[in-house]
Amino acid sequence: MAFFLTLLRSQLFARLPYPATSFEGQTVVITGSNTGLGLEAARHIVRLGASRCILAVRTPAKGEAAAASILSSTRATTDAIDVWPLDLSSYDSIKAFGKKLQTLDRLDAVIQNAGVLTSHWKVEPGLGLESHVGINAVAAVLVGLVALPKLKETARETGTTTRLAFVGSDLHFIAAFKEAENEGPLLDVLGDEKLANMGDRYSTSKLLLHYAVQELAARSPLGKGADVLITDVTPGACESDLFRDEKGSLQAFIQSILIKLMARTTEVGSRALVHGVDPHLGPEAHGRFLMDCKVVE
Ligand SMILES: NC(=O)c1ccc[n+]([C@@H]2O[C@H](COP(=O)([O-])OP(=O)(O)OC[C@H]3O[C@@H](n4cnc5c(N)ncnc54)[C@H](OP(=O)(O)O)[C@@H]3O)[C@@H](O)[C@H]2O)c1
Repeated sequence: MAFFLTLLRSQLFARLPYPATSFEGQTVVITGSNTGLGLEAARHIVRLGASRCILAVRTPAKGEAAAASILSSTRATTDAIDVWPLDLSSYDSIKAFGKKLQTLDRLDAVIQNAGVLTSHWKVEPGLGLESHVGINAVAAVLVGLVALPKLKETARETGTTTRLAFVGSDLHFIAAFKEAENEGPLLDVLGDEKLANMGDRYSTSKLLLHYAVQELAARSPLGKGADVLITDVTPGACESDLFRDEKGSLQAFIQSILIKLMARTTEVGSRALVHGVDPHLGPEAHGRFLMDCKVVE
């Protein structure tokens, strides 16, 4: 009950500030930025003067269309946007992406935004893991890990705080995570279709992500000087393509009504993503969960 009141308050009354901090001279990577929240976050960051915004997407043609859309709505020139391939369903793709990141002159911020939601059981062949666990938790963290060395190097060389934001969800507050009551290694238990509660799996994957972000931040503490600030941010409920697999069911119909009544636009939700990598974000946000552009957990 407390969660639903918090959610209602957030969705109906919170006002997310329009991003205004300059990203001038900075290189920023945003995964899953061909559509939805990632695309709108990229649009803000390009508008705010980033010298290089890298759209890391699994379908390059969709990335090129997103780049064209950003160029048509900002004053940026083509050299401000790159499209790089990244498929979070494949360890090989994440490794190749990590190697490519090392070739950059600098890397100031990464928004690990790509994610999925579905009620159908599927194992990602390139990961050997169920989709939510694989993409939203394990691959998301791996993307962060392959980006960290370059983020640390840039922090050292520029004397600034670089930023790594993971896009989580407030639904992690109500994850039942019943699978954890079973014996055995966690990934094996979560990989057993017979034990899976698919209605809860998305929330559980975002809870796992949250735990992983806390652990990552603890293992990469902020030093006195320049370092990498790591956050877990929620955009709140937004009207996007996230529910694309769910169309047609009664649950989807009810969800679509709730979304129409309460959801933010992806532009408004994306402000939370940009806030998660704001150059002025303070050390109190390190390893924490940010909702409505505020530290809440
Ligand atoms: N919308 C909400 O209400 C809400 C609320 C809380 C948190 N979030 C989180 O916000 C993030 C963005 O969601 P969204 O609402 O903008 O949804 P969306 O419109 O469906 O965008 C998801 C993005 O992730 C990409 N993606 C999915 N699987 C991928 C993979 N295996 N490899 C690479 N990219 C992949 C998609 O690429 P394709 O277009 O190629 O499929 C798309 O670019 C997600 O992490 C989601 O969990 C959303």
